[in-house]
Amino acid sequence: MQKIILTGDRPTGRLHVGHYVGSLRRRVELQNSGDFDEIYIMIADAQALTDNAENPGKVRENILEVALDYLAAGLDPAKSTLFIQSQIPELTELTFYYMNLVTVARLQRNPTVKTELQMRHFDGGGVPVGFFTYPISQASDITAFKATVVPVGEDQEPMLEQCREIVRKFNSVYGETLVEPEIMLPDNAACLRLPGIDGKAKMSKSLGNCIYLAEEPEDIKKKVMSMFTDPDHLRVEDPGKTEGNPVFIYLEAFARPEYFAEFCPDYRNLDEMKAHYERGGLGDVKVKKFLNNCLQAELEPIRKRRQEYQKDLGYVVDVLKKGSEVAKKKAAETLADVKRAMRIDYFDDQELIRSQAAKYQG
Ligand code: TRP
Repeated sequence: MQKIILTGDRPTGRLHVGHYVGSLRRRVELQNSGDFDEIYIMIADAQALTDNAENPGKVRENILEVALDYLAAGLDPAKSTLFIQSQIPELTELTFYYMNLVTVARLQRNPTVKTELQMRHFDGGGVPVGFFTYPISQASDITAFKATVVPVGEDQEPMLEQCREIVRKFNSVYGETLVEPEIMLPDNAACLRLPGIDGKAKMSKSLGNCIYLAEEPEDIKKKVMSMFTDPDHLRVEDPGKTEGNPVFIYLEAFARPEYFAEFCPDYRNLDEMKAHYERGGLGDVKVKKFLNNCLQAELEPIRKRRQEYQKDLGYVVDVLKKGSEVAKKKAAETLADVKRAMRIDYFDDQELIRSQAAKYQG
């Protein structure tokens, strides 16, 4: 069987380092591994509109920002198809048919939908139907490309489960047609859920606790130096906690082994640094300076590449346009398979006239 990746992001802002360690860095590695037959990376603007109906400008403005972040991070249009969700109408059509395979009760039980419904109030106007059904649309995104692997963050687990249920249901009702995808989560706990610089569970633009992928060097430094650490670690000689300490969680995600020799030769690796912090005698400033060096080293090439692409937005649009054409072709093939399986391909169905005619030829 072919190995196919599909994944994507909602374009509601620039991507931050949480996106990077949680998914983007992995995608680039998978892309360069050569292990996959096809890779699709989608800018999920239609999904973003499900809770931004009154603010389409925000979505529109961020399409190129996200595309720039993709290219800057190392996604290569020669190896990965980058495309825009709304430009593939086949996805909407698939959603309409899948909707008949999912109950309202099942959507209400989807944990991600549930928390999102609790968090948002939709300005007192109630929950848009489109928002409520976005897990079904996400199943269309995944199955349209016959994806076998979906690299995403942990918060997307319920979406994948719902997608797999739709696939099983479709195949059992209409015959083996769709492919069941596997989720691929980050392998390191720090990458699974990188906290904000304030230690809050999630990095999010609205909380103002993000470090962006293309952040300027001085701003990276300022943010790192202001990060939360162990609140009981007051004096250098005090023993400190590394568990749950944002600075150490970031180091888990970013400190490559070679950075110790380069920036902090007092320690050979993170375990040694942690041990010193835990027994006391290692100050926060020193740890933060090291983290700043790691982040600067990691983000500099990304920022530089982004600056180059920023000068040529025509090229970026062209990448998305060509990618959307490729994606559309693939999605159309799957839609045709789906319609054939459901036997709603009437004009290609010779059997339709024959069986109906038999009724009238007594
Ligand atoms: N829900 C994803 C997010 O919020 C974006 C997304 C839309 C996606 N469709 C997808 C991710 C299909 C993976 C597969 O970031």
